Parts: sequence; structure tokens; C-alpha cells
Amino acid sequence: MPSITGERLLFHDMKPEQSSFYEDTIKGLNCRPRSIPPKYFYDEHGSRLFDAICETPEYYPTRTEIAIIKDNIDEICECLGEDCILIEPGSGASKKVRVLLDALNPHAYMPLDISSDYLYAIARDLVSEYPELRVIAACLDFTAPITLPGHSEHGRRIEAFFPGSSIGNFEPADALVFLNNIHNLVEKDGGLLIGVDLKKDPSIINKAYNDEQGITAQFNMNILARMNRELKANFDFDCFEHRASYNEALGRLEMHLLCTNSQIVNIENNKFKFKKGESIHTENSYKYSVTDFYSLAEEAGFNPQQTWIDKNELFSIHYLKA
Ligand code: AVI
Repeated sequence: MPSITGERLLFHDMKPEQSSFYEDTIKGLNCRPRSIPPKYFYDEHGSRLFDAICETPEYYPTRTEIAIIKDNIDEICECLGEDCILIEPGSGASKKVRVLLDALNPHAYMPLDISSDYLYAIARDLVSEYPELRVIAACLDFTAPITLPGHSEHGRRIEAFFPGSSIGNFEPADALVFLNNIHNLVEKDGGLLIGVDLKKDPSIINKAYNDEQGITAQFNMNILARMNRELKANFDFDCFEHRASYNEALGRLEMHLLCTNSQIVNIENNKFKFKKGESIHTENSYKYSVTDFYSLAEEAGFNPQQTWIDKNELFSIHYLKA
């Protein structure tokens, strides 16, 4: 049901199905290797820890991506063009898009996110910060096929923005499905501006996920705290350690929680016996060369039009035309 909350702010709650932390946890811990979907990192504390990761000297993606956008803002705006509807799947705090909004004059900005209250708060901040901007916020699950509310009424060109190398947290087959969904959404005259972390010297990647302050370790361990708090689990934090390393054969950084001391964990009536040396796989972060990514984008129906890379060749931003 759309609710008009002001002349420049429209909020649509599409009531997406919320996944169950309990069910996904039980399923993941019963699998071999055991795993937990990385989306469960992002409770309030986890989101704050992720922001802190982005500030660490070792985690290069965030600052490199912002610098690339700033350094090439004129060319990027030329690709996106004025008067489009700029959509951002998984918009979160809508931080990076501000660099675009400062320079581009879209017909409207459309943040898409699953967390309704947070989305509404951010949308309100944006309309007060940008006096000319129209914001159409939609609460939906962007990993499923997306139908934009009131789309046929707009009849405008849609440009999508997907920064942060979030595409790297999808398994390649799911990345293809996601890109295909975006391709269907932006139709023939739109496009996608996407940030993708590059393959590089593995030691740079390993440092980025093993920062000296131990913030990434806290981020990883927070999922145990979340299970204890929300699912009444009894994980002993002293029996687990953060592990992150680049798997060169698979082109991905893997994060695990390694069990260093056997223990039995209970979640309601479920009993999980952890042996020393066993781990819970918590995240993959795939890295793509430019050619790897072009192949994926082309398979999804896109035509890579322009690519910007920093001088150290750490990170890439692509504009893909549908
Ligand atoms: C959100 N995502 C792109 C981050 C990444 O680099 O894969 C999440 C992250 N995990 C550990 N550090 C950052």
C-alpha cells in the first residue's frame, strides 16, 4: 500500500517476506560444512561494526570506490543522464549515492531495502538534506525479482546503482540471477552502475579482512552473540576464532568461525556437537577481474559500456547498458 508522506517523499511498503533467522541457522548448522548466511551479520551492532570496518586502513574497497566515483563524476553522470529514476537495491544508509545526488539531477531517487523503519528514516533524511530531490522509497526484497511500485505511471528511464562490491557476496550463479533481474527492470534504455572488487595480490585482500584492530573479527564473532541473544543459543565465544583467507582457486575471500575447543551448543531442542578444528562458514566475498565481470554481465544481457579503475588497480566501477 503506497502512503504519501509528503510532496517529495513517497513510501511503499511491499511487505516482503522476512526470512527466519532461526530456520536458516538450524538448516545451516546441520549442513556440512556448516554455514550461516552472511545477511545475518547486519543487526544493529553488526551494521555499526561494518561501518567501522570501512574506516580501517586495511579495508580499501569503500574509500577506493568513493574516490573513483568522485574522480570520474562527470563521466559517470553523463552515462546515467539527467531525469532518470535512480534506483538503489539494498540502499541501507544511502551513503555512497550522495556523491551521485550531489552532481546528478535525477527525476527521483528510489532506495529499495528490506528494513522498513530504517528505510523510512533514511528517506526522510534525504528529502530534508536535498531540497529539490523526490524520494520514492520501496520496502522489498531486492534479491527476488523486483516490481517497482507505480512503475508504469513513471514511464521513465531507470538507472540502477549497486555499489560496495555487494555483488561479491552472491554466489556466481545467484549474481547472474540478480543481474538478470536488474536487466529486466531497467529495460532497454536504462543501465547499471556497479562497484566490483578486483582480483589482486592475495596479501592485500587477506589484510583487508584481518585488520589489526580486530574489527572484522568482532564483526564475524557478532553472529555468535546474535545467536545467543536472539535464539537463546549457548555458544562459548572463547571456543571460536575469526578466520579469513583468500581462496585463489575459487577467486573468493572466505570467512569462517573456527572451533578451537570442542563444545556442545543447544538451540531450543537442537544439539550441535562442534569438534575442535571444525568451522562455520560465514561469508564469501568473490573478486572479479574486469574480463570475468564482463562475461558475467554479458551473460545477464548487459553491454559493458565504461569501466573506471583506481591507479593501484584495487577496485572497479562499471557502467553496463541494458
Ligand atoms: C558488504 N560486503 C561487500 C563486504 C565484503 O567485503 O564482502 C562485507 C565484509 N565482510 C568482511 N568485511 C567486509
